[in-house]
Order: sequence, then C-alpha cells, then structure tokens
Amino acid sequence: MRRILAIETSCDETAAAVIGDGRHVLSNVVASQEALHAPYGGVFPELASRQHILSIVPVIEEALTKAAVGWGDLDALAVTYGPGLAGSLLVGVNTAKALSLARGLPLVGVNHLEGHIYANWLRVPPNEDKPDPEFPLVCLIVSGGHTDLVLMTGHARYLALGSTLDDAAGEAFDKVARMLGLGYPGGPAIQRTAGGGDPGALTLPRAWLPGTYDFSFSGLKTAVLRLTREIEAAGGDIPVADVARAFQDAVVDVLVTKTVQAAAAYGAREVLLAGGVAANAALREAIAAQSPAPVRYPAIWLCTDNAAMIGAAGYFAWDDGRRSGWDLDVVPSLPLVPA
Ligand code: KG4
Ligand code: ZN
Repeated sequence: MRRILAIETSCDETAAAVIGDGRHVLSNVVASQEALHAPYGGVFPELASRQHILSIVPVIEEALTKAAVGWGDLDALAVTYGPGLAGSLLVGVNTAKALSLARGLPLVGVNHLEGHIYANWLRVPPNEDKPDPEFPLVCLIVSGGHTDLVLMTGHARYLALGSTLDDAAGEAFDKVARMLGLGYPGGPAIQRTAGGGDPGALTLPRAWLPGTYDFSFSGLKTAVLRLTREIEAAGGDIPVADVARAFQDAVVDVLVTKTVQAAAAYGAREVLLAGGVAANAALREAIAAQSPAPVRYPAIWLCTDNAAMIGAAGYFAWDDGRRSGWDLDVVPSLPLVPA
C-alpha cells in the first residue's frame, strides 16, 4: 500500500491524515477552530492563521501515531495550496515543504475543491464497499465558499458547467442562520431547526437563471431579511422553524433541479455531492429521489474540511506524475478549472 501524509489548513480547520492508495483512511485528525471564531459569527482570518501555527505540529504527529506509521513508511506528501485564506494556506504549504525537504518525500500541491470531490473515493460508510466512482460524472460542490457544478470525464479532467454568481450555498446557510439567531456555523443549525418547520407555511423565491447551470442565492437571503423585518415591524414573533424550512427547501430545490438536468444532459454515470453543504440531509434525500444516475456523497465527517480528502486527491495526482517543487506557493483564489 502506498501511503500519503496530507495536510489541510485552507480555512479554520487544522487537519492532517494518512491515506492508503488514495482510498483508505489510516488516520484523520481535525483540530477545529469553531469555538475560536464563533463569537465573530464567521472566520477571523488573523486568528485562524495564528491557531494553525500552534496546532499544525501536534496534529501531524497525532495523524502519524494514529495510523501507526513512521516517516519511513510514507511515499509522498500532499498539501492544499488554494483556494482559501492566504495566511492559513501559508502554514500548511510551508510545513509541507519543510517536511518534504527534511524527509526527502515528493510533494504534491492539491486544489481544495479537488479535495472535496475526491472525498467520494474514500472507502468509508456509506461508500465502504463501492468501487471507485465512474466517469463521466457530474459533481455538485457546495461549501461555505463555493457552489460549482462540474462535469468530470476522468481523473483531473474537469469541465465547469456553472457556479454561483453571488453567495455560495453554505454562505447563504450561515447568513440566514445569523439572521434567525441560530449561531455559527449555520448549516447544521438550519437543518435542525427546519426539521420542526411546517413545509407549507411559507414560500421563498428561487433564482432559476434559465438556460444556465449557474446559481444565485443573494436574492433568497434578502427575501428572508425582508420577511423577518416585516413580521417584526408588525409586532409578531418570527416563526423561525418555518422560515428555516422554507429557506432550506428553496436552496435544495434549485441545487437538485440543476444538478439533475446536467446529469441527464451529459449522460452522467454517477452524480456526486461534495463540500460542507453535502452534509445536508434534505439535499441528500432530494437528489437521491430525483437523479437519473446513482448518487454518491461522502460520510458527513468527510464533507466538511478535512485532510483525508486532500490525501485522496493527492494520491491520484501523484499517481498521474504530478509533482510540486520548492516554488509551490499559496494561491488564495485558485480555480478548479482554469479560465
Ligand atoms: O466545505 P466546508 O467545510 O468549508 C469550505 O470549504 O467552505 O463547508 C462549510 C459550510 C458552512 O457554510 C456550513 O454552514 C455548511 O458547510 N454546512 C451545512 C451543513 N453542514 C455544514 N450546510 C447545510 N446543512 C448542513 N447539514
Ligand atoms: Zn472546504
């Protein structure tokens, strides 16, 4: 088995993992900074990079210990070099370069979005006994920073079909959660609260952007703001669960409809979900019910940021001969598909 040590520090999780043959999670350590940033209602970049510096060495040591491997058992290093926060990415990239030099291990820079997609190659439940995903496939990447619909025709072969014109889906969940006083991160809180909402009580608008695979969530966010302000102005109590339910229904409706259309149009053999919002139960259920092709999504703990997914993407890139040199630098706005 070929083993890769992967490092991920693009946002507010300091993470390291050891992955075997790009599919087997030998260890996966995530030091979350959630509590550190919660008082600010979002990630505070300067605090994030400082915390990465404190956490990175113990997190890597724990990943090696949990996988019961030493430096001599590793074949390569993989690290996220973008997209993400510059100061956060720098900690991971410089640590990986130092380790590569000190231990003589080849280094592969990984795109964070590619990592989210490759979480679907990891053989853990619900994908434990499944073979690798089949191409061509359509993947919906929905995270705090991105909403992209991508056609994948082979390893590292991506065609951008559409993306958000304004807010990312996860960002919309986070902002609406804040409006409703549900705290940060918003996605899990909205999901929980929506569970107690009446599905027919309220309807919120959908931005269909016909003829494209693009998305827009800022109008929906504004509609929630307007609705809550009107209710408050009239002296009423905001029906938080009903609003959360209507919001989640609107987001899921557009995401699923467009992904299903793309899968049919491109003859996809599989549909993949990736990114933090792929943890959403309503999204998972709706897409499984409507997709013309089998649907696959990572385990919940592999949807949000982690290093295991970077190890999976890094393995297939490394296997393909991709290598990074000492000039590897962070690229905060790195696209998945170059324009
Ligand atoms: O992929 P991720 O960990 O970080 C980025 O790369 O952005 O995604 C984080 C996002 C947050 O916006 C969070 O609210 C959202 O994923 N999220 C969810 C759920 N769990 C996490 N959104 C909806 N439903 C969930 N269950
Ligand atoms: Zn992410």
